[in-house]
Amino acid sequence: METKETFGSKLALVAATVGSAVGLGNVWRFPAETQANGGAAFLLVYILCVFLLGIPVMLGEFSLGRGIREDAVGVYRRLSGNTPWRFAGVLPILASYIILSFYIVVAGWTLEYFFFSVTGDLYSPINAVTAMPWSTACETQFKGKMIEYILTDIKPIVFTFIVILMNLFILIKGVKKGIGKISNILLPVLFVLLLLFCCVSLSLPRAMEGLQFFLAPDFSKITPMVIVNALGQAFFSLSLGMGVLITYSSYFPKDTKLTSTAVTVSTLDLLVAMLMGVIIFPAVTSFGLMDSDLEGTTLVFITLPEVFAQMEFSEFWSALFFLLLFIAALTSTISIAEVTIKFFEDRFKMNRKKACMLVLLPLFLFSAISSLSLGSLSGIKVFGMTIFDALDFCASNIMLPVGAIIMSLFIGWHLDKNVLKEELTNHGEIKSYIYPYVAFILKWIAPILIVLVLISPLLK
Ligand code: ALA
Repeated sequence: METKETFGSKLALVAATVGSAVGLGNVWRFPAETQANGGAAFLLVYILCVFLLGIPVMLGEFSLGRGIREDAVGVYRRLSGNTPWRFAGVLPILASYIILSFYIVVAGWTLEYFFFSVTGDLYSPINAVTAMPWSTACETQFKGKMIEYILTDIKPIVFTFIVILMNLFILIKGVKKGIGKISNILLPVLFVLLLLFCCVSLSLPRAMEGLQFFLAPDFSKITPMVIVNALGQAFFSLSLGMGVLITYSSYFPKDTKLTSTAVTVSTLDLLVAMLMGVIIFPAVTSFGLMDSDLEGTTLVFITLPEVFAQMEFSEFWSALFFLLLFIAALTSTISIAEVTIKFFEDRFKMNRKKACMLVLLPLFLFSAISSLSLGSLSGIKVFGMTIFDALDFCASNIMLPVGAIIMSLFIGWHLDKNVLKEELTNHGEIKSYIYPYVAFILKWIAPILIVLVLISPLLK
């Protein structure tokens, strides 16, 4: 069934798609990857990956979604006839739902930290007199808080459930009145908060040292592994291979200029990642925390609270920062949930309310299991990982890249070339200079490079 609904306006369309791309990947994964892969050198390769590969793959997904205007399964079925390609849409649906089951838990943590920053609970014992040196006391405090807020049973589940209800509330209102409207409101708030934090961070003492690490490249640090990691980060951050872009572009009007939309979305997503770097690296160097482990969870829930604890008005800055994270995470969760909602609407002719319930209500159970796997169920291991980590590994490191390879091979080798051309030129209405380049990248370069990303853990 062809979708008639749209985001309502060009601004809402861009805001929703940027809102989907900008998420925990920018805040959580990007600084950690940058630190682990040589700072500015990684940033440089990452920028090249976004523009040379990310945009063509995004245009591939946009062309499929806007051309067919159905869910991911429907898109592949309509274009594949009786060939095995017709099953290709199942993978992004599964991947997106698995991602949702743990991503929404992390979104719950950001809401929880926002809440406990507002109440002051996150910082309260820090001011108490302790026998330890202040920095050790500070680290011990936030490690303790992380155990109390995240690695436990009840609290994180309560906040995750609140996030699920918020998703339900937004998504049930539909694409235009729900997703489009909320994105229009939240995205400007997100940018204002980011700019505010950039100003604060750059005004800290020794800020320039952190900025230098982030922005002055040492080309000798560029290795094949750095390239592979940058590409993996670009795919996650731009929401490629998850079915999100196929689904969202099915709501694009026929006259949307796909190339300029893809360039705008990718540039803004990159800008947010860079602003996060400008916020985080000066802050951690300024407070002498650059050598701490900046792996996602530690960075966001231990190192950054340590930074805030050393600033005046800790609770205020902390609350604003976790609000920023929560907004970024929320607009991504609604886009990931929409993939399966649209699947139920289109495949089973369900009304929106029913489809939203069917997707979001089971999440109460699945997200609780993900969350508990870091608490009482932490003894259960799948290939040596907690359920939470196993889901993340399986979806992000295997299903997403495989989904993106399938999509590139499908467009590059199976699909009639005219489908891509017709979409990029809006059926001959506009010129597309980029079309031959996109076709070449999807046919040759993207599949080869994504295979490298997929097997990269074996090369380490
Ligand atoms: N693209 C989303 C993110 O960066 C999934 O978090």
